[in-house]
Amino acid sequence: MRYQHILLEPIEAGVVRLTINRPKVLNALNRATLEEIDQALDLLEANKNTRLLLITGAGDKAFVAGADIEEMRQLNSLEAKAFSAFGLGVLRRLENATFPVIALVNGFALGGGCELAMSCDLILASDNSKFGQPEINLGIPPGFGGSQRLTRLVGRPMTLELLYTGRILGAEEAQRFGLVNHIFPQESLMTKGMEMALDIVSKSRTSLQLIKQLVQRGQDLPLDNACIMESDQFGLSFSSPDQTEGMAAFLEKRAPNFN
Ligand code: CAA
Repeated sequence: MRYQHILLEPIEAGVVRLTINRPKVLNALNRATLEEIDQALDLLEANKNTRLLLITGAGDKAFVAGADIEEMRQLNSLEAKAFSAFGLGVLRRLENATFPVIALVNGFALGGGCELAMSCDLILASDNSKFGQPEINLGIPPGFGGSQRLTRLVGRPMTLELLYTGRILGAEEAQRFGLVNHIFPQESLMTKGMEMALDIVSKSRTSLQLIKQLVQRGQDLPLDNACIMESDQFGLSFSSPDQTEGMAAFLEKRAPNFN
């Protein structure tokens, strides 16, 4: 598969890296880039060897500086709604992917870029990264889920402050608000991301899938229903070879060997 706006590279052990590759416009997301991400997800979901996806931006300045303003300025209302719906759908696919997804935020993550990062399971950020939803300065609200995901991640008061003011957060502030898991020097972000990826893919694949589904689906359910779902998934895991191996390994005092 040939892509114009992204790079899709298998790294090792089922870890794949997707790089948004439009550095001249700070990796802004135009429709074609979103379509390529969507196609890449088709490919990754269909390949049973996919274990984990890393998403990053080309160059050392930006992860993604937002949706493509040059392209968006020409849209009418219906086209803008369709663009937003398409972007939301692609980001939703990342949240619902059957494998873990880690954002390696290596610079500006603004607007659609912050929304893309928030759709990933974990965010690892470089020390020069910057987060924000500056859409207010363009006379629009967020369009790829920022008003909803930010509220769920950092709470209502901080979300409203960020959306009202368009204020840009540095990596440390973003981490304090719970947006960012870890911060690394820019030059070691990829290595650290890969270390974490390899650690995760060494775990039980079945458990990873169940955990992702539980956290993802459970947050939108009433607690009682979410706990019933957890109980169901817990039970289900006892029919998996990974449960047999994991518990046997513990009792035999050895490391588990998950397939
Ligand atoms: N869309 C299109 N082009 C963009 C862009 C974007 N979101 N962000 C940057 N660029 C382009 C610039 O136009 C510029 O192109 P030229 O060289 O042809 O002039 C190039 O990338 C480099 O950018 P700057 O010269 O502006 O770089 P800087 O270092 O001075 O500033 C920045 C960096 C603060 C990130 C600034 O580029 C900026 O504010 N970008 C826009 C951020 C933004 O508003 N994002 C939200 C977009 S709306 C959105 O995302 C809606 C949604 O929720 C779906």
